[in-house]
Amino acid sequence: MHPAAQQITTRTPGKINLLLAVGARGADGYHPLVTVFHAVGVHEDVTVARAAEWRLAITGPRRLPPDDDNLALRAGRLLASRADPWRTAATPRTLAASITLRKRVPVGGGMAGGSADAAGALVALARLWRLDVTRQQLVDLAGELGADVPFGISGGVAIGTGRGDRLTQVIARRTFHWVLVPDAEPLSTPAVYARFDEMVADGAITPTTREAALARVERVVTALSAGDAAALAASLGNDLQEPALTLRPRLQQVLDLGAELGAAGAIVSGSGPTVALLARDAHHAAGLSQSLLARGHETIVTTSSHRGAHVLP
Ligand code: C5P
Repeated sequence: MHPAAQQITTRTPGKINLLLAVGARGADGYHPLVTVFHAVGVHEDVTVARAAEWRLAITGPRRLPPDDDNLALRAGRLLASRADPWRTAATPRTLAASITLRKRVPVGGGMAGGSADAAGALVALARLWRLDVTRQQLVDLAGELGADVPFGISGGVAIGTGRGDRLTQVIARRTFHWVLVPDAEPLSTPAVYARFDEMVADGAITPTTREAALARVERVVTALSAGDAAALAASLGNDLQEPALTLRPRLQQVLDLGAELGAAGAIVSGSGPTVALLARDAHHAAGLSQSLLARGHETIVTTSSHRGAHVLP
C-alpha cells in the first residue's frame, strides 16, 4: 500500500461568462442570475500539505498579500468544520493544512480566480485528508463560500442560475480561442452590482427577465455545440458590462480596439475589468495578441478548458 500523500496539488480554471443576465436585487441582497460559465486555460494551482495549524503562502505571477480572510483558507476551515461524517481511518485527527496558491488568474479581474482557489482547496484537502466525500458534496459546500465557487469544481461549460451557484453542466467539447486583456486595477464585484442597482433605479438599464435570459442561453448553447465562433460572438452578453464601464470607462477603448482589430466578439468578463476577445482560431488569437501588445496592452492568449478542479499527478 502507498503511504498517505503528504502533499497534493490541484489545478482549477478561471472563467469568463459568455452570458451574464442579471435580475433585480432580491431580499437576500443577491441578484438572480442566468449565466453561462465557460472555463478557460488560465489556472490556479493549490498545493496543500499536512500541518498542525493553518498556513497560507501565495506565489505565481498574480500575487496578493496572504491574509486570514483568503477564500482558500476559508474553504479549508469550512471543510474541516464539516468533515466529521466523511472521516476515514486514514483521516488525520487535526484537520489543518499549509496551503500554497500559485496564482495566474488576474486578481479582482472578474474571472473568479479567488473562487478557483477555494474550489481547488476543497478538492485538494478532501484528498489530503482522505475524506470519503463525493464531488457533488464538495460542490454543495462550495456554494456556501461564494456564487462562483461551485463552477470552479465542475469546470467546462455550465449554466448557472440562482446566485450563479446552481449549475447545469453543458456538454461542449469544441475549443474556442480567446485573448484576455487584464486591467491594471481590480474592480470590486459588490461595487459593480451596486452600480447595476443605481443604473436600474435611474432607468438607464433594465434587469433581464428570466424568460428573456433563457432564450439567450439557448443561442449561446447552440453556438457552442456548433463550434461556431461568429454565432457565439453574436450571442455573448453581459448585463454587468455597462455598470463596469461607468466605473472603469477606459475598458470601452479595449472593447473598441478589439472590434477594430477584427476580434469576432468582445465582452467584459463577469464584473470586470478583464476584457475577453473571441478569436476565430489559434492563428487569429496570436495575431490579435500581437496587435494589442504593440499598443501597450497586456494579453493572455488562452482556450476553452474542459476540466474543473483536478488533482495533478
Ligand atoms: O458570492 P460572492 O461572494 O462571490 O459575491 C460577491 C458579491 O457580489 C456579493 O456580496 C453581492 O454583492 C454580489 N452578487 C450579487 N448577486 C449574485 C452574485 C454576487 O449581488 N448573484
